[in-house]
Amino acid sequence: MSTVNANLTYNYKVVRQFAIMTVVWGIVGMAMGVLIAAQLVWPSLNLDLPFTHFGRLRPLHTNAVIFGFGGSALFATSYYVVQRTCQARLISDGLAAFTFWGWQAIIVAAAITLPMGLTTSKEYAELEWPIDIAIAVVWVTYALVFFGTIMKRSTPHIYVANWFYGAFIITVAALHIGNNMALPATAFKSYSAYAGVTDAMMQWWYGHNAVGFFLTAGFLGMMYYFVPKQANRPVYSYRLSIVHFWALIATYVWAGGHHLHYSALPDWAQTAGMVMSLILLAPSWGGMINGMMTLSGAWHKLRTDPILRFLVVSLSFYGMSTFEGPMMSIKTVNALSHNTDWTIGHVHSGALGWVAMISIGAVYHLIPKLWGLQAMYSTALINVHFWLATVGTVLYIVAMWVNGIMQGLMWRAVNEDGTLTYSFVEALEASYPGYFVRFLGGVIFLSGMLIMAYNVYMTVRQKEAVAADSAAAQAA
Ligand code: HEM
Ligand code: HEM
Repeated sequence: MSTVNANLTYNYKVVRQFAIMTVVWGIVGMAMGVLIAAQLVWPSLNLDLPFTHFGRLRPLHTNAVIFGFGGSALFATSYYVVQRTCQARLISDGLAAFTFWGWQAIIVAAAITLPMGLTTSKEYAELEWPIDIAIAVVWVTYALVFFGTIMKRSTPHIYVANWFYGAFIITVAALHIGNNMALPATAFKSYSAYAGVTDAMMQWWYGHNAVGFFLTAGFLGMMYYFVPKQANRPVYSYRLSIVHFWALIATYVWAGGHHLHYSALPDWAQTAGMVMSLILLAPSWGGMINGMMTLSGAWHKLRTDPILRFLVVSLSFYGMSTFEGPMMSIKTVNALSHNTDWTIGHVHSGALGWVAMISIGAVYHLIPKLWGLQAMYSTALINVHFWLATVGTVLYIVAMWVNGIMQGLMWRAVNEDGTLTYSFVEALEASYPGYFVRFLGGVIFLSGMLIMAYNVYMTVRQKEAVAADSAAAQAA
C-alpha cells in the first residue's frame, strides 16, 4: 500500500508491517522479561523443564526485546525517515519486503532454537550459525535498500537522522560478521573462530557496540527526526548534531574493554576501555542536550501531548544511563557494581527508559500517519501508557540500584579475621524484596504495552483507515 505525497509515492506498507511488529515483539519480549523476573522471585516457575528454565528463557527475552522489538522499531522508522527526508521512495519494494519477512523469520527461529538450548553462549550473539548467515543476508539487503534510497534522493542534503541510521547499519554488519566467525561442527553447533581472551575481547567489542550502535545510534536517528517533528520545531543545533555524530561513533568502538575489568584482558586495554567510556559522556550528553533544547519554546506542549512526553522522558533516561555507564566503567566503581543487579538496573534504564520509550513515542507518531488518520484513537490512553511506562521503569531501576549496591557491599564485607561477613545465600535472600519490586515494575510496564496494542488496534480499524487505504490503493 502506498501513500501519495505531491508527485511521489512512498512505500508505507513495509513501515506499517514493522510498526505493528514493534508492538507485537514488545509484548512478547517484555512478557518473557516479566516471566523471568517472576522466576527469580518464585523459582518453582522454572517448572523443572529444560525449555522453561531461566537459563534458556533469559536469552529469549534479550533477543525478543533487542532484535524483535528494538529491531522492528529501527526498521520501521529508518524506512519512514529515509523516504521522507530524501523525498524518494524506497529503492526496491521487493527487497524491502524481503527484509521484513526475513527479519521476522529470524526472530521466530530464535524463539524456537533458544528454548531448545541451541546457543553459541555468546551474549546477544547466541543464535547458531545457520541463523547467523540469514541475519547477514537480511542485513546486507537492508543496507542496499537504505543506502540505495539515499543515493536516489531528490534533496541536496542527507538529513542527520540518516547519518545515525547509516552508521548503525554499517557497524552492526561489521560487528555481527566479525564476532560470529565460527567453525560449524554440525547443523546446530559451531565453535568460535577465536579462543581464550581474544574471544572475550571480540565478544565485548561486539557486545558494547551492540549497545552503542543497535541500542543507541539507530535510536538517536529516531530522536533527530521524531523529536523535532512532534515538537514542531527545528533541531536545536545542526552543527552540534554533526559534532555529536562524529564524536559518538569515533569513541564508542573503543569502550568495550570496560566489560572485562579485572579479567585476563591486558591491563592497558581495560584502562583504554575505561578512558574511552569516560570520554563518551561528552558526545552522549551533547546529543541529549541537542534533543532537549529542540523543545525550547515548545515546553508547554508537554502539558497536552503525551507522545512528546514519551520522547522527552526517553532523553532524560538516555542522559541518566550515559552518565551512569561512564561511572560504572571506572575500575574502582566496577569492582563494586560488576556482576551485581546494578548492571541490570543500568541496562534497563537504557532499555526501558531510553530505547523502549523513544520507540513507543515514535510508533504513536507514526501509526496515524501511516493509516492516513489525524490522530491515535485515544490520546487519554497514550497518557495512561506514559505514566505506566514511567512508573514501571522507575520501580525497576530503583529496585536494582538498591539490590546492586547492597550485593556489592555484602560480597566484599570481611570480618576482622579476614573471613567473609556474609555468605552468598545471605546476599541472595536480602535481594528478594528488590526482585519482587522489579517484577511489579515489569508488570506495570507490560500493562502499558497492552494498552498500546488496544489503542493501535482501535486506530487501525477506524472507518477512515479503510477509506484511506482504498484511496491509496487506487492511486498506487
Ligand atoms: C517489562 C519489561 C522488562 C522486564 C520485566 C525485564 C526483565 C529482565 C530480567 C528479569 C532480566 C534478567 C536479569 C538477571 O539475569 O538478573 C533481564 C535482562 C535483560 N533485559 Fe530485560 N526486562 C524488560 C524489558 C527489557 C527491554 C525493553 C530491553 C531492551 C530493549 C531489555 C533488555 C535486557 C537485557 C539486555 C538484559 C541482559 C542484561 C545483562 O546481561 O546484563 N529488557 N530483563
Ligand atoms: C556512555 C554510555 C555508556 C557507557 C560508558 C556504559 C558503560 C557500561 C558499563 C561499565 C557496564 C558494566 C559492565 C560490567 O561490569 O560487566 C555496562 C553494562 C551494560 N550497558 Fe552500558 N553504558 C553506557 C550506555 C548504555 C546504554 C544507553 C544502554 C542501553 C540502551 C546500555 C546497555 C548496557 C547493557 C545491556 C549492559 C550489560 C552488558 C552485559 O554484561 O550483558 N549502556 N555499561
